Amino acid sequence: MILAEKLVIRHSSVFFRNAEQLLTLGGLPWPRRGKALSQLGIIADGAVLTQGARILEVGPTRSLEREARRLKAEAVDCRGSVVMPGFVDSHTHLVFAGSRVGDYEKRLQGKTYEEIARAGGGIRLSAQQVREASVNSLVRQGEGFLKQFAAHGTTTLEVKTGYGLEVTQEMKLLEAIRRLRKTSNLELVPTLLAAHALPPEYAGRPGAYIETVVRELIPVVARKKLAEFIDCFCDRGAFSVEHCRRVLAAGKRRGLIPRLHAEQLTRTGASRLAVEAEAASADHLDKLARADIGALARSQVVATLLPGANFHLGLKAYPPARKLIDAGAIVALATDFNPGTSPTLNMQFILSLACSALRMTPAEAISAATLNAAYSLRRADRLGSLEPGKQADLIVMGLADYREIPYYFGVNHCLMTVKAGRVAWNRSAGVSPAVAGASRSRRRGQDARATAGETPALRRSHSC
Ligand code: NIG
Ligand code: FE
Repeated sequence: MILAEKLVIRHSSVFFRNAEQLLTLGGLPWPRRGKALSQLGIIADGAVLTQGARILEVGPTRSLEREARRLKAEAVDCRGSVVMPGFVDSHTHLVFAGSRVGDYEKRLQGKTYEEIARAGGGIRLSAQQVREASVNSLVRQGEGFLKQFAAHGTTTLEVKTGYGLEVTQEMKLLEAIRRLRKTSNLELVPTLLAAHALPPEYAGRPGAYIETVVRELIPVVARKKLAEFIDCFCDRGAFSVEHCRRVLAAGKRRGLIPRLHAEQLTRTGASRLAVEAEAASADHLDKLARADIGALARSQVVATLLPGANFHLGLKAYPPARKLIDAGAIVALATDFNPGTSPTLNMQFILSLACSALRMTPAEAISAATLNAAYSLRRADRLGSLEPGKQADLIVMGLADYREIPYYFGVNHCLMTVKAGRVAWNRSAGVSPAVAGASRSRRRGQDARATAGETPALRRSHSC
């Protein structure tokens, strides 16, 4: 056995073996609703055998050993760890310039999100920052964030535009996303969110801006295949149901799949529009009426909950996760990573919020953050569970019990992130002095789990 210190797995076949718990999420159809959300398909002392980018086999370690030997698979010893599908973060605003830490301070002094937006802060401030930024600098900042996403166990993320607020600036954001997709070892799924806030030049004329989006932006974005999804911020202070209906329909006609920011600040009827438009997801859902919950539950629209925004805004209320799950809605969780309301890219923290604030169980939260999220990105046939034939997107978490992932909150439990069979991040390669310290103590043979936040050894042996 040697410590896993190299970033590249050399063999085309890899044998992740001896996981204390392997969470396959296999064996049941997707998406997961109601009680099925709790079924993680756990295999004790589990193993995953990969070949190139795909999963060949999953099962108890002993049952896969012979095949691993035959393939001369490189073995990764996952003793003491949980192996599970990589997180699928189905709602992020990854590409922005600078930050909005000034807005944050104003909120801490008592101003609300909407008051700050009306005074020229908020999304419009981010749009001004984007206008002043080069594509290169947007890409550089995005690359830094993507390394952190990988380090925290995210293997696939949706990425919205939305801080351009005019045709050329939205195209600039799409160009940054295109470049990030080429260079990142994670999978980025682009969404056009041009109807995010009303640009100041269009004050009092939201219809005119919507027509610009419909006539000038959507056709070129669709033709150049720069986005897969189309989104709108449907709320008080943003765009009306009517305007969003127009944008989603125009996108849909050109092959862009709708998703929608819905019922975040006020109940507008946006979740009904999402159902009507057969959207892939309706996101936020803080202000749902009871009948809206029923309508979502009867639909294929994924109810995507973003508790990071409630936490960061310091709100007391959270979206009604229990009611949605109990009614049978397809529930997913995402970070909503953005500079205004949710500057976290850590899906593990979102799991903690889902449990402590939304009252989801750890098992429900994990299904919502992997398989159901993959479904909302139209990728559940390839991502979100560990099953033969699916893509080898997995993470090794330095805990022996999956429930401890949300329980020990605020620390990164991810030891290794594997995307399409390749290592996207490996803690043992050392990224910070704290991590290097943990590696040293492992070399001395100590149990690195002695304190919360430290992790057990992840060893890689030579070919088995
Ligand atoms: O999802 N609600 C609209 N959009 C973002 C916030 C964007 C921002 O404030 O920059 C959200 O919370
Ligand atoms: Fe958002």
